Amino acid sequence: MPAEAEAIRRAVRTASIELLGDDCILAGAEHVPGLVDLLSDPAVSAPIHDLPRPITKDSIWAWVRDAEKLRQDGEAILAVTANSSGHVTGFFRFTILPERSAAEIAGARRADHQNSGDGAAWAARSFGWAFDALNVRLIGVTAAFDNVRSARIIEAAGFVAMGEQDNIRPDGAVRRSRYWEMTRDAWRAKCHAP
Ligand SMILES: CC(C)(COP(=O)(O)OP(=O)(O)OC[C@H]1O[C@@H](n2cnc3c(N)ncnc32)[C@H](O)[C@@H]1OP(=O)(O)O)[C@@H](O)C(=O)NCCC(=O)NCCS
Repeated sequence: MPAEAEAIRRAVRTASIELLGDDCILAGAEHVPGLVDLLSDPAVSAPIHDLPRPITKDSIWAWVRDAEKLRQDGEAILAVTANSSGHVTGFFRFTILPERSAAEIAGARRADHQNSGDGAAWAARSFGWAFDALNVRLIGVTAAFDNVRSARIIEAAGFVAMGEQDNIRPDGAVRRSRYWEMTRDAWRAKCHAP
């Protein structure tokens, strides 16, 4: 529906990132050094297939700029999380497909914030925010086969396993992934369940 797609594009352009979390902010030039530090750690970046490779100041600056251009077109949002000293501690990237009323979400947190025991809550805020702020009808997520923490979080949130796919990394490497989907109706029913 063109009207729905246009409304989603408008929502992407105007979304309040702080509603994603009070530690969240739209990624900008000032976050490039922090993102390079964050993503240079394979514990953070290795599980994510669509990051720029290699990770350098230039490639990450291009990634941030590209995300901002896509945001203006209503097709992506790159948000970073930062601690009270302003250091980048993680990121969420939303890829939006307005004509399909869908979003894909990827994210990661710094290695010393991993194995926190609250990964489910950390991820859930991105799912809830995408449904509420962007008003998409579907969210898709993928994870590498050996990414047991992500699979656990995704399935506990109620996503439905849809199968497997090959993801091609920007450096040409192929990664076999599992993928899952969740509808907005299913998410809201789950959130409002007694
Ligand atoms: C994925 C990520 C956000 C999860 O956050 P986290 O703080 O590490 O997550 P948690 O410690 O809450 O662990 C998540 C779940 O996995 C479980 N888990 C942890 N290690 C496990 C293991 N070896 N086997 C089985 N389950 C395991 C935890 O018990 C928890 O389940 P629970 O909520 O039912 O208790 C974080 O690990 C990360 O940033 N990883 C690198 C990037 C990444 O993988 N991003 C996702 C790409 S799809």
